[in-house]
Amino acid sequence: MSDTFEPKNIIVTGGCGFIGSNFVHYVVNHFPDVHVTVLDKLTYAGNPENIVGLPNDRVELVVGDICDKELLDSLVPGHDAIVHYAAESHNDNSITNPEPFLKTNVEGTYCLLEACRKYDVRYHHVSTDEVYGDLALDDPTRFTEETPYHPSSPYSSTKAASDMLVRAWCRTYGIRATISNCSNNYGPYQHIEKFIPRQITNILCGIRPKLYGDGKNVRDWIHTDDHSSAVWEILTRGRMGETYLIGADGERNNITVLRDILSAMGQPEDAFDWVRDRPGHDRRYAIDSSKLRRELGWRPQHTDFASGLKATIAWYEEHEEWWRSIKEATEAKYAAQGQ
Ligand code: NAD
Ligand code: DAU
Repeated sequence: MSDTFEPKNIIVTGGCGFIGSNFVHYVVNHFPDVHVTVLDKLTYAGNPENIVGLPNDRVELVVGDICDKELLDSLVPGHDAIVHYAAESHNDNSITNPEPFLKTNVEGTYCLLEACRKYDVRYHHVSTDEVYGDLALDDPTRFTEETPYHPSSPYSSTKAASDMLVRAWCRTYGIRATISNCSNNYGPYQHIEKFIPRQITNILCGIRPKLYGDGKNVRDWIHTDDHSSAVWEILTRGRMGETYLIGADGERNNITVLRDILSAMGQPEDAFDWVRDRPGHDRRYAIDSSKLRRELGWRPQHTDFASGLKATIAWYEEHEEWWRSIKEATEAKYAAQGQ
């Protein structure tokens, strides 16, 4: 195991998005000596409300684009690490219009890597299990750090490209970097375009939930707090140049998750609509996180999916003002796609 790195002044890109903002809360709540600069462009997916209420002397929001090199030149010096969450993150959007995915996910990562090289700043790259493509439902294996890259969608291919840039910058320029590839997150502050919050808010609005394809696609669910704790361990104790897979053994197919939501919200189990499948829809993701557990001793805390889901449903029930104003437009976009 390597020496512990003790950052005091970190930049969190995408800190107004779903997972990034949960990470900012996690750092503020657990590490009183750490100051966080959030760099976020505030796209449709970024909401400054996600970090409102956190102390001003601990968290600063800089609204800007990770592709803005001049901004990075003024912002990065003086920080000891960048934790890079900012991305275009939604597969369905990448199918409709891939261009912003190329720009933010690939060029944006390049700009951050160059800034880290120039100012000798530690870099952690937040990536996804989707870079490995998908598994058959009956495949006995799971993804490991050695699984070959085989991305399927415009989104996952740009994430794979960004991972490759990180590896090359490590090897060629010796930048101090790590990569993590995590499975599907759930929890508070997730945009309502995504599967779980879409269905919860549909039910709250009297709209029938929408299930793609045959509903048998499997995702490996992890609570976003567990993702945060894993990223912190990798940032502070991970080996340079290494990749760590993050997962909580949470494989479930979509129809099971939807029925869990329906049941928890007092709805009949068939109160949903089948809709058009996602083109190229990945069948199954499954993470083997043994390396992270063995090397860094990390363990997920939220291992009871039913109670995590219940708390997530309660969060959306209690925070209607957070999602209500974007619900109609989000559903109109899906309706135009037959979804
Ligand atoms: P999100 O879409 O909720 O948030 C993305 C954030 O990035 C937003 O705040 C947005 O404003 C910001 N952003 C986008 N483009 C930007 C730019 N050019 N400059 C600065 N900020 C910009 O995404 P998420 O679901 O929270 O995902 C965060 C990261 O985690 C992504 O890198 C994603 O690939 C990765 N990831 C997500 C999951 C998941 O289940 N959601 C799982 C594994 C990995
Ligand atoms: O695996 C990690 C990835 O998880 C991240 O890299 C992505 O950023 C994140 O968006 C997520 O990707 P998915 O495509 O798996 O998530 P999404 O919430 O879009 O869909 C989850 C599953 O639910 C998927 O099989 C498609 C299905 N689905 C989705 C929606 C929005 C439905 O059946 N109905 C829906 O309405």
